[in-house]
Amino acid sequence: MNRPTEHFQPRSNMSNLKQDISVNAAVAETMISHLMNETTDLADRDIHVPVEHFVSPLRAQAEIDLMKTLPLLVAHRSELPNPGDFITRDVFGTPLLLSRQNDGSVQAFLNMCSHRGGRVETGESGNRRVFTCRYHGWSYDANGGGLRVVPYQTSFDPINFSTHGLDRIKTEEVHGLIFVDFSNNQARPVADYLGPEVEAQIAPWYLEDSTILIEKSYTLDINWKLLMDGAIDVLHPQFLHPGGVAELVETNVGVFRSYGRHGQHFSSRKKLRELAKNGDARNLGTKYIASNLVIYPNTMMIAAPEHVEFWTVWPTENPAKATVQIRFLVRKNILTPEIERRVRKSWDILENAASTEDWPMEEWIQQNATARPTGTFRYGRSELSAQHLHRQLARDLDGKEL
Ligand code: FES
Ligand SMILES: [Fe+2]
Repeated sequence: MNRPTEHFQPRSNMSNLKQDISVNAAVAETMISHLMNETTDLADRDIHVPVEHFVSPLRAQAEIDLMKTLPLLVAHRSELPNPGDFITRDVFGTPLLLSRQNDGSVQAFLNMCSHRGGRVETGESGNRRVFTCRYHGWSYDANGGGLRVVPYQTSFDPINFSTHGLDRIKTEEVHGLIFVDFSNNQARPVADYLGPEVEAQIAPWYLEDSTILIEKSYTLDINWKLLMDGAIDVLHPQFLHPGGVAELVETNVGVFRSYGRHGQHFSSRKKLRELAKNGDARNLGTKYIASNLVIYPNTMMIAAPEHVEFWTVWPTENPAKATVQIRFLVRKNILTPEIERRVRKSWDILENAASTEDWPMEEWIQQNATARPTGTFRYGRSELSAQHLHRQLARDLDGKEL
């Protein structure tokens, strides 16, 4: 369904950069109507996902194989801002070396020497013009990845330098988000994959001008989909986080927008109810309406007044293990000590709720699923965001509707 994508005009002056990011007017209107009428967006029916999908190694492998055909969000611009900057990343066991090129683009290479497979860069990050393999000294240009020097060259057969550079993996940066595509699908730009609705949502977040204030990875004994489910779940705050998140966000009041494979769930912050009652709910921002944008399959972006939470959830071949990486991005031009203090406080609330409430529950679910891997898990009609994810996975992996 086509929805208006206009945004409220930012309240206009430069100091507003410090303030809030506006929310789509149609979303705000629907949310207020839900609050007034005690309703929420609903799917036409529940869906039932086989428990086996959370414990089967075959399923885990199929999901990883699927992800290797899609653009995957692996880094943010601020991790390698200048030409020559590099970072190394392991994605599904594939060692990647991402390097900022002279023309300002980012290129991912396989971190693998064309002589006999050594790692050409062993650091996590830095700035280099040349990558040199420490086994026998072959070196490669950081810009372009071409083979530059082979020591003792005369003791080899002739080497074609033009075909012995580092392997390149398709890489694109959109709004500061860096995607790699293992399928090297040149015919599908990331902008097409995301689509105009996702673009319209993330453009006002200034991600390209943001920096990572906090970043942490957690490896947990939880299937990656349970971690996604937990973060997009609209039904649980009141029960799992009483006295915490539940005091800030309404339970089971939400608006969902489908953007093709991707989707965004908006939930109402508690203070919106008061405003709605007083008929004063205009020019709403993320202060009143929280949102969670799922970039299919494994990324979530949660916009808050002063930062954007950026989650990537990485499956492993073990269906009961995943790594979640959480970064808090803050626009550089609003980053004052006061903003930093507030954003760090948000981080503490999130980390505390996740590690003491959400993740323990998800670990129990994982253990229960392993103990009884039959039957199905139910996703109710209001759990639109989770339904959307599982339906799309079923389409892509099983070729059928759940
Ligand atoms: S493996 Fe890299 S130089 Fe030999
Ligand atoms: Fe939670």
